Amino acid sequence: MEVIEKLTIDLTKITISPTIDRQHSELLIMVNNLIDQYHLINHRGKMAEILNRLTDYGQAHFKEEEKFMKEHNYPLIKEHVKSHQEYTFKIAFYNYKFFDTDAPQFSAIVYFIRNWWNIHLLKWDSHLVGLVKENPTK
Ligand SMILES: [Fe+2]
Ligand SMILES: [Fe+2]
Repeated sequence: MEVIEKLTIDLTKITISPTIDRQHSELLIMVNNLIDQYHLINHRGKMAEILNRLTDYGQAHFKEEEKFMKEHNYPLIKEHVKSHQEYTFKIAFYNYKFFDTDAPQFSAIVYFIRNWWNIHLLKWDSHLVGLVKENPTK
């Protein structure tokens, strides 16, 4: 079985706002729980349920973060939102295919989710830390 590494991002270095920070730590827990448990799930319905919860939470988080970027006139908002959208589209695609005969493997989905959050938090969300320091308007 393919080993998927858990996320080990130091979130104390990515402080943006109390709400966003709380969501990031919750998301990290959700993704790591998924990494721990996905190979034990032998029922696609159960996996779909977990993925839906993660998707809903992710969407609420994106909304919050995008509002924050607007409020702070973040110059790269378009590119950042695009990254959120790419994730959303990919997850929607996985959901669409989920019960098909050529459905994606759980490991492929979990692998994508893990890597997306890893890169996104370190690249895009980390940019927002400097933003608050430069424009502490809120
Ligand atoms: Fe983001
Ligand atoms: Fe984020």
